[in-house]
Amino acid sequence: MATIIQNGIIVTASETFQADIKIDNGKINMISNQITGSNEDTILDATNKYVLPGLIDPHTHLGIKGTLDAFETGTRAAAAGGITTIINYTDPDNSQTFLEDLTEWKEKAQNALIDYGFHSIINKCDKDVLEQISKLPDEGVTSIKLFMAYKENMVNDEELYLLMKAAKKAGVVTNIHAENGSVIDCLIEEALSSNNTKPIYHAYTRPPATEAEATARALRIAEITGAPAYIVHITCEEALKEFVRAKEKGVNAFGETCPQYLVLNEEYLKQEEKEAVKYICSPPLRTNKDQEALWHNIKSGSISTIGSDHASHPYVNGKENGINNFTKAPNGLPGIESTLLLLYKYGVCEGKISMSKLVEITSQNPAKIFGLYPQKGSLNVGSDGDVVILDPNKSSIITKASQKQSTEYNVYEGMEVQGSIEYVLSRGKVIVKDNKVVGEPGSGKFLYRNKFTEQSQEGRL
Ligand code: URP
Ligand code: ZN
Ligand code: ZN
Ligand code: ZN
Repeated sequence: MATIIQNGIIVTASETFQADIKIDNGKINMISNQITGSNEDTILDATNKYVLPGLIDPHTHLGIKGTLDAFETGTRAAAAGGITTIINYTDPDNSQTFLEDLTEWKEKAQNALIDYGFHSIINKCDKDVLEQISKLPDEGVTSIKLFMAYKENMVNDEELYLLMKAAKKAGVVTNIHAENGSVIDCLIEEALSSNNTKPIYHAYTRPPATEAEATARALRIAEITGAPAYIVHITCEEALKEFVRAKEKGVNAFGETCPQYLVLNEEYLKQEEKEAVKYICSPPLRTNKDQEALWHNIKSGSISTIGSDHASHPYVNGKENGINNFTKAPNGLPGIESTLLLLYKYGVCEGKISMSKLVEITSQNPAKIFGLYPQKGSLNVGSDGDVVILDPNKSSIITKASQKQSTEYNVYEGMEVQGSIEYVLSRGKVIVKDNKVVGEPGSGKFLYRNKFTEQSQEGRL
């Protein structure tokens, strides 16, 4: 009982060609012309449609207290959007160790419809934490995340240095939320004491310089330690300049951006307060000039990946709390299901990136950086049969009425997108058919990821 995808336009990070794909026992076992099947096989006709590797979303926040999407609804929305793997952030509960946290998160994720891994958030640094980092790879987790952005959970420079050094030794990538939280805190106090409480002050108190400074500092520490450093959600030209300078100097730096920074801008924060609060995320939405810089850096290869940063804060008793004071709105936007169609419309159709680049940044690169390649991230013989069939000729309008995610609002409401996700396969099994999710909760598997050192020795990126 194999699955055969016939006559599609196969897209990999390096080429586009017409062929058939056969998936057997969950793995791709043949890519060639005119593969015929038996009566028992599932045959999918992909004539005039793109056949892509399933997307890997390396930045999700499912299952966070107070948010609406835990693993079942969140991965259902992800699957509808062509995502077949997520790497989700844990949320440390400081009453236990982060290895204990991880055990809990693995249990929480058991009803996922798609495959998943975790990044461990670490917000303190002591002897025990440093020792535990060396044990993370045994748990299948090969990345940590550190915050420089928020007073409550940020690490200082000494801690950054010690944690990165420990991570490097363990073969663990350090993900960094780079914004200067101390300066931002001063700017927020000044804004509030002048009664500047509207949502746009969220952006004005987190200016590009605060992101650029923290990016530069994190990457200087990465340079000193030699640690692989992955800067999450890069938003602006100023930060990109620091990032590119470090990369050109040979720092082992990887950069991520998110669809919201590519297609939304700070004008959304200037709307009427009750609308504007929906758009509060950190770093904040920037300008059209920053969007241009992000697209250019995707095209040039400086930015390696796209993550949704999906955070499903409710409007009622959530976002609305920021109407009279921007600091009271929870940070982060929902959008897990829209990544592919937004990038296809505003990237590929508008001539900013090629189809192969889209595959590279949404699938191949996150797989390579985070130790999942070649099991995930490409349509190779031997890889998991995670596939998206995209009909490029249909268009639609994003609206909350048809969304799968659980929020009462959609930040892309009314935006036109191009392409329709006809089928999504997870390890050969159809989980989305004609825009309907047919996958079963619990069919996703926890992915044991490889250490960073093993991959880099193979010179994969
Ligand atoms: O504003 C954001 N991005 N919220 C989610 C948490 C984080 O900082 O990644
Ligand atoms: Zn962050
Ligand atoms: Zn341009
Ligand atoms: Zn995030």
